[in-house]
Amino acid sequence: MIDARAVLSKKRAGLELERVEIEGFVGAYARGELADYFASAFLMAVFVRGMSARETADLARAMLESGERWSFELGRPTADKHSTGGVGDKVSIPLAPAVAACGVAVPMVSGRGLGHTGGTLDKLEAIAGFRTGLSRAEFERALRRTGVAFGAQTEELVPADRKLYALRDVTGLIESVPLIASSIMSKKLAEGIGALVLDVKHGSGAFLPEKERGAELARAMLAIAKSFGLRAIAFPTYMGRPLGDTAGHELEIGESLECLRGRGPADLRELVCAFGGAMLQLAGAAATEADGRVRIARALDDGSALAVFERVVEEQGGDPKALARWPDPAWKRERAPIAAPRAGWLRWTDVRALGWAIVDLGGGRRALGDRIDPFPGLVFPVREGARVERDQPVLEVQVRGARASEAVLARLRGAFAIEEQPFEPEPLVGAALEA
Ligand code: URA
Repeated sequence: MIDARAVLSKKRAGLELERVEIEGFVGAYARGELADYFASAFLMAVFVRGMSARETADLARAMLESGERWSFELGRPTADKHSTGGVGDKVSIPLAPAVAACGVAVPMVSGRGLGHTGGTLDKLEAIAGFRTGLSRAEFERALRRTGVAFGAQTEELVPADRKLYALRDVTGLIESVPLIASSIMSKKLAEGIGALVLDVKHGSGAFLPEKERGAELARAMLAIAKSFGLRAIAFPTYMGRPLGDTAGHELEIGESLECLRGRGPADLRELVCAFGGAMLQLAGAAATEADGRVRIARALDDGSALAVFERVVEEQGGDPKALARWPDPAWKRERAPIAAPRAGWLRWTDVRALGWAIVDLGGGRRALGDRIDPFPGLVFPVREGARVERDQPVLEVQVRGARASEAVLARLRGAFAIEEQPFEPEPLVGAALEA
């Protein structure tokens, strides 16, 4: 039996915990042998004192061992991508079918929207009938048949993370590098993948806005990957402006389809090609990342990625014929513009506010169990750094009847600035870090 108080006082004093202590504590909590107040105290001690790379890997291992560990015999390699979350980040939706079209299967256990960020599962559920609550058997069948499965964390997959995450959420203990790194990596390791690409965001729309903290998180996740022998790479990407031309569930499915048709915004395509190229290379399906990028771009342009996505939609309960109508030109009638107050150059200053505005419009959750309306969203007709004239629309609010409340409009007006001088926008992708 673990001496929980001894573990807590050791971490409270800032000392390094042994692997047996971490395993004993987390295992006992996952089995229901320790009350939530012990776990809350543990999380607070880790939040304040931090953890070494070895302790963080041991925490990920202890969480992983609390549940099932999947492995799939598919006769082809597997790879996945995980993003730390942002506004307008729909990359997984075109990426997974493009990678599958190039011969690498993608077992993708994704999340729901968290705070101001949107989640892949919620976006996919904007397609009528699309089911993401797959059992393990359904997940494996989808993967075998289409090369892709988009699923949610099941009851059996990393139950320790499920319990600890819920506690962190209500006690304000999310923004900790060892806690985020072990939480994300325990789930990715449980999927049984052969390679992993991490998209670690920084900027005003990211959970950890400072670039250096993003890099710290990337290094922590890569160190865990290394200790498990998982091939992984991390790309720092800029989330100080929204990704693509839209944010909001239906809008983002429309934009993902445009990308799968070989069109769509350049920044979205750039990330799909960069991450897809790295996934193919790490999984052994492309000689180099550059070669992988070319193959992904071809899959987007020749319709093969779109064909995989249509099969995925059908397999997971949606109607692929419905996709031809997206994005619907009639949505344009339901949009209210927000104009530039003067002439100058557009800079996004608070991307988090854009995400919260979508939540305010009903397109996100304030509390667990809230229903999401997939229709509301934002359209970004002007790229950051571009010249705008006075009264030119820089943002469009999509909401039924084009009627957004004054509070939402005020929030949105505070999310950008019009600069007097031209400036060079931050690059989208930084130098990759490897395990
Ligand atoms: N996503 C996760 O899965 N875990 C975290 O701790 C933060 C984001």
